[in-house]
Amino acid sequence: MNDVKKYLDKEGGQVAVFDATNTTRERRETILNFAEQNGYKVFFVESVCEDPDVIETNIVQVKLGSPDYSDCNNDEAISDFLKRIECYQNTYEPLDEVSDRDLSFIKIMDVGRRYLVNHVLDHIQSKIVYYLMNIHITPRSIYLCRHGESDLNLKGRIGGDSGLSLRGKQFASSLGEFIQEQNIRDLKVWTSQMKRTIQTAEALKVPYEQWKILNEIDAGVCEEMMYEEIQKNYPAEFALRDQDKYRYRYPKGESYEDLVQRLEPAIMELERQENVLVICHQAVMRCLLAYFLDKTAEELPYLKCPLHTVLKLTPVAYGCKVESIFLNIEAVNTHREKPENVDISRPPEEALVTVPAHQ
Ligand code: G3H
Repeated sequence: MNDVKKYLDKEGGQVAVFDATNTTRERRETILNFAEQNGYKVFFVESVCEDPDVIETNIVQVKLGSPDYSDCNNDEAISDFLKRIECYQNTYEPLDEVSDRDLSFIKIMDVGRRYLVNHVLDHIQSKIVYYLMNIHITPRSIYLCRHGESDLNLKGRIGGDSGLSLRGKQFASSLGEFIQEQNIRDLKVWTSQMKRTIQTAEALKVPYEQWKILNEIDAGVCEEMMYEEIQKNYPAEFALRDQDKYRYRYPKGESYEDLVQRLEPAIMELERQENVLVICHQAVMRCLLAYFLDKTAEELPYLKCPLHTVLKLTPVAYGCKVESIFLNIEAVNTHREKPENVDISRPPEEALVTVPAHQ
């Protein structure tokens, strides 16, 4: 519980998850006392699986991929896990609708077939309930890619709303072929409302949905500028961004932190859906990837999301499998690494040392 305290008090966390496997009434009491003494609220989450089919499917879909069973065949793993469940049953004391009526909790029955929600105290708890009622374990994949290379990408300019370059159009048609070959069940295709993602989706010749919240990060006064121009016109801003790229907000624009908040409804809907292809933008794709791969705020703005490359994310037990598929159409590199010198008084050449080549 000290880790929980450290995360909430010192690291600015809002919600900490405490795994209380084998919980008894007494352990719940201890957790509640600890929370009360430290000024936290507690929301219990209990998952109850009684349907033997659901248990077996769950073991096959979720547990077989876990590191515990990497050297076992299916039957061995199923029988071992059933024994484990018996042990849990011996110690675990379930939440009770009557005697625990003053506690805040959700009981999830048979992986989402039914729920019992009790005494929800605030906005965060209601969001937790909404999240838990929308996630699922049906096997599926999420395909993430950026639009095809744009005219502004070629010129090394960020933002704007330009159309696709010749190679960008070639990527769009290759993406169409790739998606057809994959033969994906009930694939949904989402784009932003920017020309370059819409042009990319049009080449797929399948229905797609446009989401405004998937638009690229708003670079404010720096929209359509080259990094060289940002350094020339706003050297201090450029250095401040390098010092804390996640929290830095462009004047009249957004930060990555803002973008993460903006994307929350899209992430929630991705959790609800099955197979989805999201055709988006560099900063947006970094945020989505960071969510699914559990990356930190420091790593997020530097995740590599090259043009003309599809990332296939397949949720597996305790994580997500990632496959990177380059569709073999060359494109300009738009990834600028953090330079070594991030000081406001740095010479321009040190600020520009990591700017990728462009026209
Ligand atoms: O500004 C638009 C870019 O796609 C995001 O790039 O955050 O690495 O500068 P950046």
